[in-house]
Amino acid sequence: MNRFTLFTLLLSICFSCKNSSANPDGLNEGYAIVTSYKRPIEEWPSPTIDKGVEWEEMKPLRLNKTLFEDMKKADVILGKTLFFDPRLSSSNQISCSSCHHPEMGWTTHTEKSIGHNRALSKRNAPSLFNVFSKNNLFWDGRSLDLEDQALQPIKAHDEMNMDPKKLPSKIYKIKGYRQLFQDAFNSDEISVKKIVKALAAFQRTIKSQSSRVDGFMRGRYDVLNDNEIKGLHLFRTKARCMNCHNGEYLTDQNFHNIGLTYYKREEEDLGLYNITKKAKDVGKFSTPSLRDLLNTRPWMHNGLFHDLIGIVNIYNSGMQMVNPRSEGQYKDSLHPVTDSLIQPLGLTEKEIEDLAAFLKALNGTKYKMPIPKIPE
Ligand code: HEC
Ligand code: HEC
Repeated sequence: MNRFTLFTLLLSICFSCKNSSANPDGLNEGYAIVTSYKRPIEEWPSPTIDKGVEWEEMKPLRLNKTLFEDMKKADVILGKTLFFDPRLSSSNQISCSSCHHPEMGWTTHTEKSIGHNRALSKRNAPSLFNVFSKNNLFWDGRSLDLEDQALQPIKAHDEMNMDPKKLPSKIYKIKGYRQLFQDAFNSDEISVKKIVKALAAFQRTIKSQSSRVDGFMRGRYDVLNDNEIKGLHLFRTKARCMNCHNGEYLTDQNFHNIGLTYYKREEEDLGLYNITKKAKDVGKFSTPSLRDLLNTRPWMHNGLFHDLIGIVNIYNSGMQMVNPRSEGQYKDSLHPVTDSLIQPLGLTEKEIEDLAAFLKALNGTKYKMPIPKIPE
């Protein structure tokens, strides 16, 4: 060791002792938090969950051992081909993948997506990652299963604008499809029911890849850095996120109004209320999974959020600004009220950064799927 390295070594030791004496509790507390997570999940500090909230502990992603066999099943191959085929639309220009593209996290990186006649969708296209695990579909839960769901974009005038009655004969004219239907259903007869069944079978194979957070939960404690681990702790405690984003997919599969109704403004969307017509459902949207966030931006039902720090900032504010204030607003039974689980959080700037770092670490490796050849 030469004199210079000895000098810098002493200097850095001196610096760290100075820092620790300036804020010994802060440093030790941070260290204690980090070590309290480097152990099995059952031994982690318990999360801050409000009374009455049903929740599940976080879990690493179930390993997807059969994916390669699943992808070779005849109904999945047929569904995948249909998913990428623009001839499912009346203009022959729009496929499911136009709005749910594998290289863009099975969505598009635009706020709204473009459908038939360049019409803009009303909402942000959700990612299709892990749709097999969802018990309600669409931002307002208006569909309960993938078979029922698939027909809606095909029919919708602003999406694919295709009359389902005409679809089977249109597809039957494409000779290459007959064998695919024969393989999948033991008959080359084509029906709408078979089309949506195959689309659903394919979509059930679209799954997240493991993230660094999964690696950490499985016991590889070096894959998250200290800031990310502190972010994990905040997510579970002070930032209150686990009240709604919990379990394997970080969603309670429920509906909440987090304050983004844009009531009586241009972007107004009453969410679940449109389906149930109950005043208590105004502004409620389905809690999205937080896996693969970096691949699925922009975020929220309206796609207006492009930056994770920005999202953590608005949660930090408590989002109460939309709640009724004037007498007229109190009398208006439809005036949106933010969920009581959303409260001002008092996070510091450093904590906001740590929480955002944790959210980024939930990203799985990027999906690279070969696009199938469309039959002639
Ligand atoms: C023009 C763009 C567009 C096209 C084309 C399109 N989608 Fe979508 N998709 C959307 C939008 C926007 C939503 C959200 C709508 C809502 O919640 O009201 C959505 C929602 C979904 C959902 C619900 C996901 C969830 O997490 O709730 C599924 C599944 C889905 N689409 C599959 C398909 C399939 C299959 C096709 C082809 C038959 C298709 N989409 C074609 C834009 C599109
Ligand atoms: C009261 C339940 C609730 C709590 C608590 C909550 N969220 Fe959410 N979160 C939701 C709902 C519902 C949405 C969708 C809202 C919408 O689109 O209008 C959402 C959307 C999101 C999105 C956008 C995801 C996407 O794919 O568009 C992110 C990111 C997010 N939340 C992170 C957090 C973080 C971080 C916390 C803690 C600070 C948190 N949430 C706390 C219910 C909640």
